[in-house]
Amino acid sequence: MKFEFSNPTRLIFGAGSLSRLGEVVSRMGTRALVVTGGGSVKRNGTFGRAVASLAAAGVSVVECSGIEPNPRITSVARGAQIARDEKCDIVIALGGGSTMDASKVIAAAVYYDGDPWDMIYHGQEKLHVPTRALPVVTVPTLAATGSEMNCGAVISNAETSVKSFIQNECLSPYAAVVDPELTLSVPQDQTAYGVCDLITHVTEGYFNGVDGTPIQDRFAEGVIQTAMEWGPKAVSDGGDLEARAQVQWASVVALNGWVQVGTNFAAPVHMIEHTLSAHHDITHGAGLAVVNPAWMRFAARVRPERFAQFARRMFGRPAGQDDLSCALEGIDLFEQFLRSIGCPTRLAEMNIGDDLLARYAQDTLHIAGDGNGRLPGRPLMSEADIVEVLRSALK
Ligand code: NZQ
Ligand code: ZN
Repeated sequence: MKFEFSNPTRLIFGAGSLSRLGEVVSRMGTRALVVTGGGSVKRNGTFGRAVASLAAAGVSVVECSGIEPNPRITSVARGAQIARDEKCDIVIALGGGSTMDASKVIAAAVYYDGDPWDMIYHGQEKLHVPTRALPVVTVPTLAATGSEMNCGAVISNAETSVKSFIQNECLSPYAAVVDPELTLSVPQDQTAYGVCDLITHVTEGYFNGVDGTPIQDRFAEGVIQTAMEWGPKAVSDGGDLEARAQVQWASVVALNGWVQVGTNFAAPVHMIEHTLSAHHDITHGAGLAVVNPAWMRFAARVRPERFAQFARRMFGRPAGQDDLSCALEGIDLFEQFLRSIGCPTRLAEMNIGDDLLARYAQDTLHIAGDGNGRLPGRPLMSEADIVEVLRSALK
């Protein structure tokens, strides 16, 4: 293993921490662009409480509402314009991963005169790499993406049906105010999709990283086990604050970089899912629940010992069994878990048929391919491999 690691985001975690928002923001700014989604934060009172905390700390507020799930580049451009016009000096993301991702790119787009889509890598010849951004404070209202404490963002272009990402240190939030109380109102289906998303962040590194990372393996297994223990509780009783807190902490840990340190991992399941949500505007975590087990069955044939380890450690499968049978049983059990919390596991459940399978594969390779027509991961995937995985998940 050889690596360098840094995560500069200050994390303020715990029930009630929203009341500290003003104090945290006022260390870095006096006029905040508060970015919100489709209105959930208004309906459940989070917005009002956030604004009160900011006002008490002397921070004035300008609003950018209406960030859509699978946030669009047009909303990013709109938000950046508001921030410039209103001379905002800090951006606050109050919402789920979509709102947080849009906020990060808005913060960088404020300093860029061109089209912010230039910053999102989508196979273009000339990528604009931002070097600075307004400070961002994330306040997640949904436990899923881990966006609150990482430097990535995923943005969609509805005109071209492309969804892709930017990862840049200047997008690291200055602080994340993570208050599990804000997730009490998340509906059952979104709660389940969030659990699937956070688990998939960890399985990507676990199955696609380099060999010889035993500590990282145990971190990943700990996150998965915690999510499988507390996730169902949060799904069955949305008012269970302890379950909400454990799931939210798991979602932060799953993608703030620490679990994956030194694994040099790729994320083929995410790359394939992003193409599906680009074409069909489905919820990311739901798409992952379909793609991940199908991909695991494909990859287990190449590397059964790794998937057998997963089956033995996560599901207590016996040691004597041959690796491939054990691996496949573990994947079945994992899929059953996803179904038990209400996730779809077949494309048909999301009304996706087989007419565009080749297109999904080509788009995925266009954005995330290695330059030789292969999708990075273990194993590398060709266009035909991606089609095969998706075909196996049709019905
Ligand atoms: O828009 P509002 O009205 O707020 O409603 C949202 C939305 O409809 C609702 N919601 C959020 N908090 C709520 C709530 N409803 C009631 N009570 C609350 N407290 O939930 C719906 C989904 O919200 P969204 O933000 O889209 O969900 P999520 O957090 O799953 O974010 C998904 C986006 O993040 C990207 C995904 O690709 C997708 O675009 N990702 C970002 C990553 C990152 N930056 O690190 C990594 C991930 O792998 C992922 O790709
Ligand atoms: Zn994800």
